[in-house]
Amino acid sequence: MNSKEIRKRFLDFFERKQHEIVPSAPLVIHNDPTLMFTNAGMNQFKDFFLGNADPSSKRVADTQKCLRVSGKHNDLEEVGLDTYHHTMFEMLGNWSFGDYFKKEAIQWAWELLTEEFQLPKDRLYASVFGGDEEDDMPLDQEALDFWKAILPEERIVYGNKKDNFWEMGETGPCGPCSEIHIDLRPQEEVDQIPGKDLVNMDHPQVVEIWNLVFMQFNRMANGSLVKLPAQHVDTGMGFERLAMAIQQKTSNYDTDVFTPLINAIAQKANVTYGNEEKTDIALRVISDHIRAIAFTIADGQLPSNNKAGYVIRRILRRAVRYGYTFLNFKEPFLFELVEVLAEQFDGVFSELTSQKDFVAKVIREEESSFLRTLDKGLNKLEVIKKQVESTTKMIDGSTAFELYDTYGFPYDLTSLIARENGLSVDEEGFKKEMEVQKNRSKKDAATAKGDWIEVKIIDEVQFLGYDAVTAIAQISRYREVEEKGKTLYHIVLDQTPFYAESGGQVGDTGYLADGDEKISIIDTKKENNLIIHHANKLPSNLEAHFDAVVNVTKRRLTENNHSATHLLHAALREVLGEHVQQKGSLVNEKILRFDFSHFARMTDEEILAVEKIVNSKIRANITLDEQRNVPIEEAKKLGAMALFGEKYGDFVRVITFDKNYSVELCGGTHVPATGNIGQFKIVSEGSVAAGVRRIEALTAESAENFNLKQAAILQQVNELLNNPKDPVKAIEALVKEKLDLTKEIEEVNVEKSKQQKINLQQKIESTNGLNVLIQQAELPNAEALKKIAFEFKNEVENLILIIAANIADKPQVAVMISDNLIETYDLHAGNMVRELAKEIKGGGGGQPFFATAGGKDLKGLPQVVAKAKELIKSVTSH
Ligand code: SER
Repeated sequence: MNSKEIRKRFLDFFERKQHEIVPSAPLVIHNDPTLMFTNAGMNQFKDFFLGNADPSSKRVADTQKCLRVSGKHNDLEEVGLDTYHHTMFEMLGNWSFGDYFKKEAIQWAWELLTEEFQLPKDRLYASVFGGDEEDDMPLDQEALDFWKAILPEERIVYGNKKDNFWEMGETGPCGPCSEIHIDLRPQEEVDQIPGKDLVNMDHPQVVEIWNLVFMQFNRMANGSLVKLPAQHVDTGMGFERLAMAIQQKTSNYDTDVFTPLINAIAQKANVTYGNEEKTDIALRVISDHIRAIAFTIADGQLPSNNKAGYVIRRILRRAVRYGYTFLNFKEPFLFELVEVLAEQFDGVFSELTSQKDFVAKVIREEESSFLRTLDKGLNKLEVIKKQVESTTKMIDGSTAFELYDTYGFPYDLTSLIARENGLSVDEEGFKKEMEVQKNRSKKDAATAKGDWIEVKIIDEVQFLGYDAVTAIAQISRYREVEEKGKTLYHIVLDQTPFYAESGGQVGDTGYLADGDEKISIIDTKKENNLIIHHANKLPSNLEAHFDAVVNVTKRRLTENNHSATHLLHAALREVLGEHVQQKGSLVNEKILRFDFSHFARMTDEEILAVEKIVNSKIRANITLDEQRNVPIEEAKKLGAMALFGEKYGDFVRVITFDKNYSVELCGGTHVPATGNIGQFKIVSEGSVAAGVRRIEALTAESAENFNLKQAAILQQVNELLNNPKDPVKAIEALVKEKLDLTKEIEEVNVEKSKQQKINLQQKIESTNGLNVLIQQAELPNAEALKKIAFEFKNEVENLILIIAANIADKPQVAVMISDNLIETYDLHAGNMVRELAKEIKGGGGGQPFFATAGGKDLKGLPQVVAKAKELIKSVTSH
């Protein structure tokens, strides 16, 4: 059974059990401060478990792309060294939201594995939660009883909190779980050691394949467990491990999920998989990492220097280095694997297939840039290794930081290479250096000081902001947070007209009023499905009915910009082509910023063409067609443009400005008709990353002001040029004239300096074997002074030169001394010039042989000469 069929059979099985099959959520999570990447199938359903939102189906199933490379679930260090952990993997899952519970979850899991997939019953083990004193939790008797009805006692194991109590993160939904493990060892080995003894012992062939979690609690910030409003099932089965079991392999990498990649890499490197441990590890690591990298980029996360972007960059650099060191790839190679991957996942995760050129381009660029410093960094590490090998065996923090900062080595890469060489890294020291660089900016992030405090229990927050900018609202819950050392409050209302930042559109500001008391809302953000109003203080009466009022001016200006991005998006596709995909946007009251995939700088003509289309659509005053709650399938049929990496529910909102022009899935707020936008003006176009361009544009009054200002500048220019017929030609002529003149002046200056030098030459006085030149002179520029001083130094032996120069009416002094005189006479040009500069009210300094100083008082030049002569007198008289 190939992997495509396995995936399909899983989904079909649960469809037959009345589950709705839903798409995988994107890998990158936007609205959850506790999580950067999807690390489990249940993430996208978190709000259903917590009771913050209602699901449209009580039973769902899917295959979810997961990434376990940061936070509570992090498998990065295991990947490739073993044969069954991955950065990115697929989790097959079925869910019950307050519907069926332990009995069905266990029975169906058994049925699927043993009947549908025909896995050998006697090789399967189940674990149940054995209880935990700290959390005051008893043994999961219920699960145990259901398992006992299926399995003999000797194939059931009892697990502790670590293995059998599943938690999404530090806080959030959790519950006891029952895992299914499979023993894939040959029979002789099984006869010697029973599988039961190897469950959860990190044996590569006795592995967990499925985790059935019985969601019952919410872990609070203070560590306590609070019962959830209902009981749920969350199961997750490792797709790659299931494939290994069904295909009777001993490693995930031997299944058809990985072999196309391994083969492609091995062929390119001219090695054979299975020959040598080091190359094997590299092949596994790369075939694993490319999946994480490619899918994350396809889901809209570009590699960068912070947060999720940096996680991807780290994984990518790790892969590059494995290729470089162990497979001799000195040129970019990862990007070529995108094609293989895209073909494999065609029809499963189309976001990769349809963006493969873009993804490959981004990866290639990243590889090239890291390869430029990798070699130097590795050499540096080699030197350090030799230094510490016989002493501390530890790479100090500042070296690790230098590798990070100068050579682009992520900390974990340095530490990996250190480990390979039997060394360690001073992590604390590295962190300290990082902190110095970051200037403690870490503290800027908002951190919750406590859990939510409930004021009024509600089912789901009502967002009224599509139709209203004011509402009567009550506080549902609030919490205290700390941001940049200040205390802030997060407030959730039962209903609100405030738009929470999302889809690029900034959050609304405004106020909550209760009688005379007004609380400013300084921002509105989203956390999962909650709309969170940020305030500097809490109202005195928390239970009041507030007037919730949005700042309308800001909202309307923002709407102009948001609707304009839709018009822009469509125009770009018309002018540049259908490959244009939105890659990000920012829409606020001042500006709109639109990032999109495109491989070349836009020409002036293209920019103009886009502006013309958008402005014509504005003049056409197209009315907004806003449809809410459109089934996603229907929206797709309408040709609505969806964004990769955006999570859409079953029902979506469709924003249309002329069904033949712009149809987009969008949750933002928009103008009632395009005429409101007034006008549109692109003010910049540039590159933000490989294959991604950025346009910044203005609308309405801002666009008008911009255009008026440009016109006014042109007007001034025209006047300065005496209103020529063709101002461009006039300026061109001016520029040329200036160039010619500059050249002429330069020639004159050179001539002048030459003349001056000849004059000065004659003034050199030779006494006691010293050649002294102390003179006032007029020179065209500082460069000429320096040049003359150095020329004399080269041409005249035993030289003491002090020139007090008038340079375009500014005084400057230069002192030059032959090297051999410095010690003999204890001279120092820098000290001398400092002393002399006093006469011209200036300062300066330099080296012992040469120094210059500038000043303010031109009249002081003769005094400089006099003082210099005085100073040198004692030297020459010896
Ligand atoms: N949430 C559980 C896990 O990730 C089961 O889906 O393992």
